[in-house]
Amino acid sequence: MAKDVIIACDFPSMEATLEFLDRFGDTKPYVKIGMELFYAAGPEIVKEIKKRGHKIFLDLKLCDIPNTVKSAMSVLSQLDVDMTNLHAFGGHKMMEAAIEGLTRPDGTRPLLIAVTMLTSTSKELMNEDLLIPGEVDAVVASYAKNAQMSGLDGVVCSPREAAIVKIACGDKFVTVTPGIRFADSAADDQVRVMTPAKAREIGSDYIVVGRPITKAEDPLAAYERCCREFLGTAEL
Ligand code: C5P
Repeated sequence: MAKDVIIACDFPSMEATLEFLDRFGDTKPYVKIGMELFYAAGPEIVKEIKKRGHKIFLDLKLCDIPNTVKSAMSVLSQLDVDMTNLHAFGGHKMMEAAIEGLTRPDGTRPLLIAVTMLTSTSKELMNEDLLIPGEVDAVVASYAKNAQMSGLDGVVCSPREAAIVKIACGDKFVTVTPGIRFADSAADDQVRVMTPAKAREIGSDYIVVGRPITKAEDPLAAYERCCREFLGTAEL
């Protein structure tokens, strides 16, 4: 299965993003475009980054009625992204509609990944605000199984949850894990962090790394270090 390091391009504008990517020269890392950048720069940023030869994870976390999600996914699939996502909370009908919308006339489609429980959701918030009883881990495993049965390829989850998801859904079900830090770098606002090497050990398929690379003095060197630790090679 493909494993890769995805750089979270959490920048406020097209200019700042392209200036950052220019620093990579001929190296073309997999990049994540989230809500901030997409809302600021629109589909043009996706087209421009794609044109430059990068793979793209479009992290927009869709959640709406099935028909609306299906139509939105069909637009995203025409943007030729490599991976996108939605909230498993939307239920199996929404997830199945998303797959339909995402599938191109030739049968191909980007990887579709579900968000289970946001890592910012505590047990208290889940039980008392959302009125979902039980433990977060059990809900994460159950939502991951729903996503798998709806035909999705995997989930975004904390490194801690990756093992739980693999047990519930099997090895081939993709885990995409943020919250990655080098052993000697700051945790910033992340609470449960893991090194790239540890993420490899627990079976993460893709790691999403933002500030340890975007804020590094030499982003290319930080990216290469990440690849070495996670993939066990400097090959890019
Ligand atoms: O800078 P940092 O490495 O913390 O960035 C992590 C990226 O992963 C950010 O884009 C953040 O929004 C995203 N993310 C996360 N935790 C989640 C889901 C997404 O950190 N549970």
